[in-house]
Amino acid sequence: MALTGSRPAPTHVIAHLSDPHLIAGGGLLAGHVDTERQLRKALARVEGSGERIDALVISGDLADSGDVAAYALLLEIVEPVVERLGCALVLTGGNHDERLPMARTLYGVDSDAPQDTVTDLRGLRIIAIDSAVPGYHHGGFSDDQYAWLARELASPAEHGTILVIHHAPITYRSPVMQLLDFDDVDRLRGIVQGSDVRAVLSGHLHVTSFGMLGSVPVLVAGGVSYVDDVGAPRELLMGVDGPQSWNLVEVHAHEVVGTVVPIEQHRTWPALSETVTQYMETVPEAERREVFSRKRS
Ligand SMILES: [Fe+2]
Ligand SMILES: [Fe+2]
Repeated sequence: MALTGSRPAPTHVIAHLSDPHLIAGGGLLAGHVDTERQLRKALARVEGSGERIDALVISGDLADSGDVAAYALLLEIVEPVVERLGCALVLTGGNHDERLPMARTLYGVDSDAPQDTVTDLRGLRIIAIDSAVPGYHHGGFSDDQYAWLARELASPAEHGTILVIHHAPITYRSPVMQLLDFDDVDRLRGIVQGSDVRAVLSGHLHVTSFGMLGSVPVLVAGGVSYVDDVGAPRELLMGVDGPQSWNLVEVHAHEVVGTVVPIEQHRTWPALSETVTQYMETVPEAERREVFSRKRS
């Protein structure tokens, strides 16, 4: 028997990855990063977590330069994992993606229109909207996308809605990235306000970050491929080959909790011995906090 927590389990669990920037054929991103290896490592950590994942979300910049081979590689890597996990797959485009090859390869559709999707996870609605602006690196939605989103949100879902948007609708510290961010946040906030949206999952910043869109939390997953060096002066934009990560997003009845999971497997040791956990299983649930939390000295 495994030790159970004193709080109810989450209703839904999402593995949120972002910015794999896949390059097919073994090329290195910026001469440094093996993007295929990074995505495979990230997914191995998702599977290794043992979590009951309801959805695997990858929030854009799926390919580094929008070529068909990269999208085919993405499917080759991701589909067996999704099958083993028995979960839904939610993808969206970013500024490094190109809509036509992405639509053809991932959705079997011959179109350069954004492939915006609604996924129902046992009452939790995930809406993924492609925030790439064709021909640019900054983000935003077309009038049609805003209208579509407003129509979708007009009727609430049983467990609420999670939005997936590549360009994080928050103010990031980098002046360069502010030129490439979501335009316009006010309009998006106006649509989301008063709706059943419970969180926005984003990427693009290549660093784990948190902010608010009105009263809605925005959880930004750090890049799977590379990370922005936050320790460098804000005027610079410096890539780091590490510490890449993904976010474990747990949806509860009254909260959404994001936990950062590093992709690199570092040295570990049991912080609590098996003897202790086995003993805790024998303690009646009502007494566990007193037994476990009380300081010994
Ligand atoms: Fe990116
Ligand atoms: Fe991006």
